[in-house]
Amino acid sequence: MASYTVLCLVSCLVAGAFADLPANYQNLLAVEKQNLLWQNVQSDPHDLNNLPSEGVGSLLLNAIKPPYLLPAFSHISDEMIEGRRKIFHTYGSVAKGRLEFFSNSTFTGIFESGTRDVLIRPSVALLKDDNFIPGLGVKVLIDGSPSVNFHTLFSLDGQGDNRDFFENAMSNVIPDTENPVLIAVTKVFQSALYLLSANWMNRPENPNNMPLYEHASIRADGSPVEKGKVVAPWKIDFVPNKSLSWDPATNKDFRWHFTHDVPSGSVLYDVVLFRTQDSVGQHVGRLISTSPFVASLYGDERLYLQHANNRWCST
Ligand SMILES: *[C@@H]1O[C@H](CO)[C@@H](O)[C@H](O)[C@H]1NC(C)=O
Ligand SMILES: *[C@@H]1O[C@H](CO)[C@@H](O)[C@H](O)[C@H]1NC(C)=O
Repeated sequence: MASYTVLCLVSCLVAGAFADLPANYQNLLAVEKQNLLWQNVQSDPHDLNNLPSEGVGSLLLNAIKPPYLLPAFSHISDEMIEGRRKIFHTYGSVAKGRLEFFSNSTFTGIFESGTRDVLIRPSVALLKDDNFIPGLGVKVLIDGSPSVNFHTLFSLDGQGDNRDFFENAMSNVIPDTENPVLIAVTKVFQSALYLLSANWMNRPENPNNMPLYEHASIRADGSPVEKGKVVAPWKIDFVPNKSLSWDPATNKDFRWHFTHDVPSGSVLYDVVLFRTQDSVGQHVGRLISTSPFVASLYGDERLYLQHANNRWCST
């Protein structure tokens, strides 16, 4: 009996302490889904003085196989497929948040004037000492429907030895990389996109552009925007609130800084939307944290921000 209990304890520990999402998870309200995910994020925080930093070098090889990358676009869930790991953006910090759009937003879907329930995940593309490559993920939860997610970066080439996360704006449209290794990865990424769909409208046009059309096609209450009425931004910029900047020469990990320096209720970013490739940006929203930031195993290995497929178009 006693040994059975021990066995059970061991297997329960191995199985992980995360609560399974309920079977009807996608049907829940946005705020309910936000809270369920947040409970799991908080359930197993990392020790901030002993943060994981193990490389994912062997996984990097997978990045040059298009079929491996495909599920990043085709898997629709707020959790990672069991057994898969994020190759890029492996390590991050997560907070609950509020994405607000002001009354002057003329965009549709989740960009309409009002407040959205989100999870915010700052991360680095790869954890490297000599080059800081920050990225920002935002999961927008939707009543009764799958989330839409933002994947934004300053640049694949990073910001060198400047380790201040709030130094640069993050965008869904980024410049071409100059790094030969990343150029190779980008090419394979492009091939993965071709596997997605035979219809070119149903796949992003290139790996440097994470399109926002799907975000503009559904409202936060789950109702679809009528065909022909969709007003989608070409580009979103998250422009940092400079008063949150920290020492660019810090020797602390960015995850330590998020927990220590960014309290709940911080206005993190101004949101600037660009209607077309040639438009001037419009400041029509902002992103606010509504909890402290937590670096955890769940946030790194289970929380999942699926990519959108449909490319931008003007209507
Ligand atoms: C930037 O953050 C500071 C500190 O949290 C806050 O006082 C300020 O209002 C924020 N700035 C903007 C433009 O929201
Ligand atoms: C929209 O309204 C906000 C808040 O009133 C203001 O700060 C911003 O400049 C306005 N944006 C545009 C594009 O007019």
